[in-house]
Amino acid sequence: MTDRIELVQGDITRLAVDAIVNAANNSLLGGGGVDGAIHRAAGPDLLAECRTLGCCDTGDAKITGGYRLPAGKVIHTVGPVWHGGNHREDDLLASCYRRCFAVAVENGIKSIAFPSISTGAYGFPIERAARIAVAEARKAPAAIDRIVFVTFGAGDRGVYEKVLAE
Ligand code: AR6
Repeated sequence: MTDRIELVQGDITRLAVDAIVNAANNSLLGGGGVDGAIHRAAGPDLLAECRTLGCCDTGDAKITGGYRLPAGKVIHTVGPVWHGGNHREDDLLASCYRRCFAVAVENGIKSIAFPSISTGAYGFPIERAARIAVAEARKAPAAIDRIVFVTFGAGDRGVYEKVLAE
């Protein structure tokens, strides 16, 4: 089912999909990178809803509304901080994608866009992360029709292209 997987380069906050995924931190109270961009674009009601959710474990995911975003919902997930690769980073990153798909299905979401979770501030090597993202997308539940990987930089796009061709 690789035909439901797409690659888009640019700003995830512009995508009109059922849900975009946020690469958040355990507090779910915002931050830099894609998290900051999503909160800025969604407006303050997103933070207000996040405050009602409590924290989120690394590898888990929680859903909110999308507010001013063109996307209907935001699924907030917390990727692992890279500590060299021997601290369950691969498993925790795979868990982020799986939990996002599970939360999506529970909420009737058919189209979902992911940023490259953990590969910015959290330092996860991009190619290793892209392999995990693509492997999990290929195993995603059948109820998901469209999976968009959003890369911010041209270098990251090239990595995803290579991994998707494997
Ligand atoms: N659209 C798509 N991708 C983006 C955007 C955007 N608007 N902005 C950045 N990226 P990061 P992490 C890419 O650091 O590594 C936050 O402070 C970026 O180029 O956002 O999981 C949180 O609060 C990179 O490829 O997330 C956490 O504290 C990717 O998104 C921490 O950073 C992820 O980079 C999470 O770190």
